[in-house]
Amino acid sequence: MDTKILTTSKTDLENAARIIRDGGLCVIPTETVYGLGANAFNETAVKNIFTAKGRAQDNPLIVHISKFDEIYDLVKDIPQKALALADKFWPGPLTMIFKKSDKVPDAVTCGMDTVAIRMPSSSVAREIISLAGVPVAAPSANISGGVSPVTAEHCKQDLDGRVDAIVFGENCEVGLESTVILMVGEKPRLLRPGFVTLEEIEKEIGEIIVDKAILNPLEKDQKVLSPGLKYKHYSPSAKVQIIDSDDESYYNYVNSLGKDGVVALCFDEDVEKLSCDCLTYGKKGDSTSAAANLFYNLHKADEMGATLVLARMPETDGVGLAVVNRLLRAAGFEVKKL
Ligand code: TXA
Ligand code: MG
Repeated sequence: MDTKILTTSKTDLENAARIIRDGGLCVIPTETVYGLGANAFNETAVKNIFTAKGRAQDNPLIVHISKFDEIYDLVKDIPQKALALADKFWPGPLTMIFKKSDKVPDAVTCGMDTVAIRMPSSSVAREIISLAGVPVAAPSANISGGVSPVTAEHCKQDLDGRVDAIVFGENCEVGLESTVILMVGEKPRLLRPGFVTLEEIEKEIGEIIVDKAILNPLEKDQKVLSPGLKYKHYSPSAKVQIIDSDDESYYNYVNSLGKDGVVALCFDEDVEKLSCDCLTYGKKGDSTSAAANLFYNLHKADEMGATLVLARMPETDGVGLAVVNRLLRAAGFEVKKL
């Protein structure tokens, strides 16, 4: 298949929308990561997403909308707390899971009776959805298992020849996927941390449950509420090792390993103390910058031909929880304490 490269001109956004409406696959920019979009009401198109990505057949997709009213076709019931969260955080990097309506094909939800909904803040994404006139099912636009794409170029590397078109928009501002919260059940439950933080959510709707799988590997036979948690994720070609230590121990350890194929993923303040190539999260304590730089730098490490990425453990509060959640998965949950 010949993959068209589209810009964000009005004509090209209309082209992207038409491809989606007519049952094709089109990569679109969002503020979190790039998405691989298809018409959520078109079962065949949705199935093609799974083939293009090599995605597990039991891992459901998020449905994206451009205006709140579009939700009524997709869900059965909207709890009061979800209305409060939508009011505060939509459009934005928050996904909420509801009981699904009969109109949502099983291909989207992999047979589950719930559906995940998000209204992105990216104006390009919302314009495409609005012009398409249908809700857009979209997982991250990468081959499953790899690092999620935060530039159009990342998507091209993975999906050229496998999709109808790629919209070349800006680099993703947030840099990691949306916060996912299950709104079905007695209490809302955080399934995936993101840029909208646990603290911000609890400020709006009170205490929520934090799924144990966010910071821990799944135990054998553990019941999985979000199938995505089961799979290997965010792995670059290089081996990622997380180092949890004070400054001096980190410098000594990294410098003892030489420079060959070694890349340090560290804070700005660490660079002058290290002898190998460095990629940085930004300033220490700036989790927003760490989120924006994490996937970008994991891609970069591969481009540099790194074989070992030595990542400093970031803080786990606020947006840091999302950074650590992704980093743990990239490292197969291995943390070296020094
Ligand atoms: O920021 C994002 O959320 C990006 C952009 C493109 O919007 N999308 C994204 O999609 O990250 P994906 O497919 O890579 O991650 C969706 C996650 C998966 O872990 C999946 O298992 C979970 O959401 N999920 C989707 N529907 C669900 C449902 N009905 N119940 C539980 N988990 C669900
Ligand atoms: Mg993904």
